[in-house]
Amino acid sequence: MKMPHPHNLLLYPATRAGVPGLRPTDTKTALSAAALTLFVESQDAYTREHGRRVAAYAERIARQLGLAQADVEAVRCGGLLHDIGKIAFSPNLVCNTQTTLSAAMRAEIRRHPEIGRAILETLHVARPVVECVHYHHERLDGSGYPCGLAADRIPLGAQIISVADCFDALTTDRPYQKGKRPEEALSILETLAGRALSAELIQALCRELPPAAGASAAHLHSGRTGLH
Ligand SMILES: [Fe+2]
Repeated sequence: MKMPHPHNLLLYPATRAGVPGLRPTDTKTALSAAALTLFVESQDAYTREHGRRVAAYAERIARQLGLAQADVEAVRCGGLLHDIGKIAFSPNLVCNTQTTLSAAMRAEIRRHPEIGRAILETLHVARPVVECVHYHHERLDGSGYPCGLAADRIPLGAQIISVADCFDALTTDRPYQKGKRPEEALSILETLAGRALSAELIQALCRELPPAAGASAAHLHSGRTGLH
């Protein structure tokens, strides 16, 4: 994966001394972005913790792939900010308490990757991070949104965020679902491998999880448990 050095990555301490590689002209951008992140994280506990977990999973997948440090950082920041576009909506729309949404509401929420891209571009955030945010709901078979990109037209960073995002969504307790065990979630992800999500990236995540989870996932995926 070729990525330009993300010289103005977000979320470093917003002081010049504490921002590796930050150019003086980027200080204002970093401050704005840090404030924006605090705002996003103040929305609700789920949003805050989900972003942090997705960032952590994505970073571990990126390290498993042996990506350069700058690319790992871009993916981590993409994970933290992937749903930033949701700040455009009422908390009532995205507070995760409803099991069913109208088609119109769903269509509205599906705009969040594009809104996120617009927000980050306005702040001159590095392009690899913007791509993670813009394309994190694309799927390998072209069934995703907002652009319907397929296969390797989806930037690798965004593919990593997709796997991390799906894994966290499956393993987290929500008002309408009990979080699944990691091995169950991995097994479900594996049913999507090659169609919606990258098999290689799912395997990378599997290797990062405790051995029991990965082994159990393989066991479940063999069909011996009847999970699916
Ligand atoms: Fe999203």
